[in-house]
Amino acid sequence: MAKIRCAVVGVGNCFAGLVQGVEYYRLHPEQEVVGVMSPEMGGYSIHDIVFVAAFDVDSKKVGKPLAEAAYAEPNKVRWVGSLSSMKDVIVKQSPQLDGVGMYVQKVVTPVGERPVEELRAEALNELKEKKVEILVSYLPVGADKATKFWAQTCLDAKIAFVNCMPSFIASDPEWAGKFENNGLPIIGDDIKSQCGATIVHRTLAKLCDDRGCKVDKTYQINVGGNTDFLSMKEQERLQSKKISKTEAVQSQLSRRLADDQIYVGPSDFIPFLGNTKLMFMRIEGKMWAGIPYNMEVRLEVDDKANSAGIVVDAIRYCKIALDKKVAGPLIGPSAWLMKHPPRQFSDPEAKKLAKEFAETGIDIGR
Ligand SMILES: NC(=O)c1ccc[n+]([C@@H]2O[C@H](COP(=O)([O-])OP(=O)(O)OC[C@H]3O[C@@H](n4cnc5c(N)ncnc54)[C@H](O)[C@@H]3O)[C@@H](O)[C@H]2O)c1
Repeated sequence: MAKIRCAVVGVGNCFAGLVQGVEYYRLHPEQEVVGVMSPEMGGYSIHDIVFVAAFDVDSKKVGKPLAEAAYAEPNKVRWVGSLSSMKDVIVKQSPQLDGVGMYVQKVVTPVGERPVEELRAEALNELKEKKVEILVSYLPVGADKATKFWAQTCLDAKIAFVNCMPSFIASDPEWAGKFENNGLPIIGDDIKSQCGATIVHRTLAKLCDDRGCKVDKTYQINVGGNTDFLSMKEQERLQSKKISKTEAVQSQLSRRLADDQIYVGPSDFIPFLGNTKLMFMRIEGKMWAGIPYNMEVRLEVDDKANSAGIVVDAIRYCKIALDKKVAGPLIGPSAWLMKHPPRQFSDPEAKKLAKEFAETGIDIGR
């Protein structure tokens, strides 16, 4: 099969996890039975994904080979010693806009600003020259303006978009329409990690609901020690993340909880945790004869391993859509892989829709 030519915006921890994970499986092919959700999809393996262009703002990354930038601080992923590819890909400058938050400024020093339209022209040139088909956005939470800049750049460059973060593009009808009208697929928004807080919480909430055990109230508290959690200390940047995480759970209940009976959110930054993320979840409710029940879950995961396993599938769904000329938001794959898709389904339904799309190119969720 032809390789899948991708670009990335935001060479942070998630990107490092994706490319170091692919390298790990290249070095240890026998391990692919562990952790890879779809070893093959539409004829593509995870090794068919190649990153040929990259954009960031951090002076430790811009102008550096992508294989090096993936290891630059504050990135914390160190799963393999070095990367065998991407040595010739030089990270280009992206406009900063609202990308670097108040707390993150302590660990990210952006390169000097240049006019946005000059950077757009440079980006379009790079995407065209490198024959990029899909842009993956790992921009920080709260980077709404930067996300819109890159969504528009995808439209101008005629490339597909995978939006891993919670500024709403695939799930915004106006932006989704623009992708559809330009004949381009898009998957988004905000990764629903492989075995993360969202999928565990919504699965358990739905289990209670399906079995007649009323959910009265629930919370989900998350803490971590990477740059993403540092960025999320800034409450003003969190609005769309909270909507995305809360709706992912609310959508699984037959009766919505009142706003003050559900709390789902990133809750604090604990530096020494690094990429370890801890989630604490509680559900309280009533079952037969109004008798109360409650449950508590503590989940400990590597936040970056958790996201990469999803994005290698999102990229391949987008490639299948490009091959089969399917345009607009991919409903089934987005529902399966993302927290805030254009349409929510239960996870077993979403899995079926996504599988059907991979096999037939028909997005029956539409
Ligand atoms: N499990 C997960 O890790 C998970 C799950 C869901 C969503 N996400 C989302 O994925 C995104 C990426 O997460 P991460 O851990 O890699 O974050 P990160 O902070 O490690 O990386 C962000 C990168 O973006 C760069 N950047 C900042 N402003 C920019 C701009 N204007 N243009 C280009 N680059 C810019 C930073 O320099 C950094 O390299 C976040 O929005 C996060 O919420 C992650």
